[in-house]
Amino acid sequence: MKKNIKSNVSWIGYIDWELDNFHGDDYSIINGSSQNAYLIEEEKTVLIDTIWDPHGEEFIENLKSEIDLKNIDYIVANHGEPDHSGALPLIMKEIPDTPIYCTANAVKSLKGQYHEDWNFKVVKTGDTLDIGNGKELIFVEMRMLHWPDSMATYLTKDNILFSNDAFGQHIAVAELFNDKADKCLLDKEAMKYFANILTPFAPFVTRKLEEIQGFNLPIDMIAPSHGVIWRENPGQIIEKYAKWADNYQEDQITIAYDSMWGGTEKLAHAIAKEIGELAPQTTVKIFNIAKKDKNEIMTEVFKSKAIAVGSPTVGNDVLSNVSGWLAFLKSLKFKNKKAAAFGCYGWSGESVKVIENWLKESGFEVIDSSLKVNWNPTDEDLQQAKEIAKGLVG
Ligand code: FEO
Repeated sequence: MKKNIKSNVSWIGYIDWELDNFHGDDYSIINGSSQNAYLIEEEKTVLIDTIWDPHGEEFIENLKSEIDLKNIDYIVANHGEPDHSGALPLIMKEIPDTPIYCTANAVKSLKGQYHEDWNFKVVKTGDTLDIGNGKELIFVEMRMLHWPDSMATYLTKDNILFSNDAFGQHIAVAELFNDKADKCLLDKEAMKYFANILTPFAPFVTRKLEEIQGFNLPIDMIAPSHGVIWRENPGQIIEKYAKWADNYQEDQITIAYDSMWGGTEKLAHAIAKEIGELAPQTTVKIFNIAKKDKNEIMTEVFKSKAIAVGSPTVGNDVLSNVSGWLAFLKSLKFKNKKAAAFGCYGWSGESVKVIENWLKESGFEVIDSSLKVNWNPTDEDLQQAKEIAKGLVG
């Protein structure tokens, strides 16, 4: 059923309490999620986005219980990714001539995915659409936030920014609004979303926020396509994005490793202990890459000023969980962070070099010290953790 969010605007999405993975299995969902679509019923009726096709039939039935689909004058497709466009083919079967307002890139992505030549109306930043009763929609291209086709739509007079993925979070909140959510969870999920999805596009975020602020449009509500609607102090998430996009870091060092027989694990804990002694104010967190959720660890990396990554040498390389994790790390294009490598070895001992190379290619400032230990570390070997700790703290 639709839920009114303001004036003649309703949420008509799907709250998914059962979802446990997203983007295939590449993004862990721990606190549920939602796909948010919106219905505006002014002189013109507008549907903003749809939802993912596994729930498409239910979405259409919901819509039909609220309105006659033939009364939809315009569809706005802010983004072509299937979690927002998945139910579009079902709707278009019933109302095939309805115009779809979207960016030129969204035409490409929608045609590419659904192989249909619908009645697309290409819009650019600043284009408007009159929806009656003195209200209009203003379109804002949001290129690379996070796809080339992404767009936001602003509703005048009600001052609602339908931001699609930007400002979203994977969290299920039945009451829909940020002031009804568990604040700690919401902050954590908003940061996880930024860290794991938007970090590579941080420079675009900065420029886009400046552009949006330059429009001087009042914003009473930010209605993204996942998670809560920012109703209470909506500016807070814009301020957070501005901070997060600006080489964000806290006084934290994260140590991530995998270990075969416990030697590299001992090194991880020795480094943590030395950091604790050198800089007791610094938060130190340790994660076994093979056992802990990679998206949660990346959120901790996002918060960190420095990281240490460890693996024993296996087959002249690193453990496969570490190489997969390092590939993901590289794709996120973190900036302004120090890093170091550590690991035990029995025979050839390449892992530290392999990790350092990954870290350099990933944009980290690799410190001069590393910690490479033959066989199981002795107390004397563990003492060498002081050097790596000094480099990371300093
Ligand atoms: Fe980029 Fe929520 O899809």
